[in-house]
Amino acid sequence: MSQADYPPLIDSFGRVHSDLRISVTDRCNIRCFYCMPAGAVRFKPRRELLSFEEIERFVGVVARMGVRKLRLTGGEPLVRQNLPRLVALLAQLPGIDDIAMTTNGMLLPEHAESLRASGLRRLNISLDTLDPDRFQQISRREGLEQVLAGIAAAQQVGFEKIKLNAVAIRGLTEPDVAPLGRFARERGLELRFIEYMPLDADGTWQNEQVLSGEEIIEMLQSEFGPLEPITPDDRSQPATDYRFVDGGGTVGFINPVTQPFCANCNRLRLTAEGQVRNCLFSTVEWDARALLRGGGSDEQLADLVRSCVWAKKAGHGINSDEFTKPQRAMFQIGG
Ligand code: GTP
Ligand code: 5AD
Ligand code: SF4
Repeated sequence: MSQADYPPLIDSFGRVHSDLRISVTDRCNIRCFYCMPAGAVRFKPRRELLSFEEIERFVGVVARMGVRKLRLTGGEPLVRQNLPRLVALLAQLPGIDDIAMTTNGMLLPEHAESLRASGLRRLNISLDTLDPDRFQQISRREGLEQVLAGIAAAQQVGFEKIKLNAVAIRGLTEPDVAPLGRFARERGLELRFIEYMPLDADGTWQNEQVLSGEEIIEMLQSEFGPLEPITPDDRSQPATDYRFVDGGGTVGFINPVTQPFCANCNRLRLTAEGQVRNCLFSTVEWDARALLRGGGSDEQLADLVRSCVWAKKAGHGINSDEFTKPQRAMFQIGG
């Protein structure tokens, strides 16, 4: 059977979906305020999470509809046991040509080597600040040293093009912009600043807290000299990339609030409990787990995903009066 023997995943606006983000757990070892609640968290019981074999089957079906890129997320994906085994299962599926992971980096000192060996090619590591007090303020836990050790471990075992994700928050992370820029330039890491999205669990997000990519470009230019835009290889990537003219590498800006990129979106999401979402901001989900556990056929799974994609809206509408915040917070979606 050929690799794309089902018709491609096209939505009603003509966007072709070839990218799947898979959350493997809602658990995390820290509690960033923009993602998780302050109080006790009710995590999903283990039996509700898809098994590796269920994820493998789902991916096998969507690969037949043209999905080529996978990204493992959480919660924190590395708190799920034996994750390299999942990577290895997915890496051998026909059609899958890129497997990446987004992690907070704390468990990389233990796992970087086995992940690399399992077929993982790319790593994005969250790092909002280099200041231990601010790390604690943002993540409500200690851990900066562990994250820095994780980044070093990833570089040491040979991951290339490691990206650093810094969520930018007005009134909080302005002092981090230049130090993060310097850190990334010195170590050959690709830093991206991300605008704060209304996906926090406590519902405290305010538009005024969004520190825009435009403002950060100004801050970086006054520290490191001019930045020039780079033409993207892939029109569907969320980041707009720039080059430091002095040769100090590149920096990216993910600006979902001030410059939404929904018109080029090619992403589909699978939550840890097997719900398919067509957008980070979806308020509806399609239950793949019910089919996976109830004897559903591959054709039924394919139809479910197709319905989900067809129902995708033009955009998230964060800036419109009718915007409804999804019930799930970031840790329950996967980012
Ligand atoms: P690559 O480009 O493959 O390296 O990955 P990525 O930047 O898409 O993935 P990553 O998990 O590092 O995401 C970085 C930030 O972009 C996170 O805050 C994500 O929530 C956000 N992001 C990724 N995809 C989307 C999307 O489709 N819509 C919105 N609004 N944000 C997204
Ligand atoms: N807004 C923007 N980015 C967020 N992330 C988590 N919550 C938010 C939010 N509310 C980022 C994390 C991680 C990625 C998966 O999403 O920092 O890098
Ligand atoms: Fe795609 Fe939704 Fe993100 Fe827009 S907000 S880019 S539609 S996932």
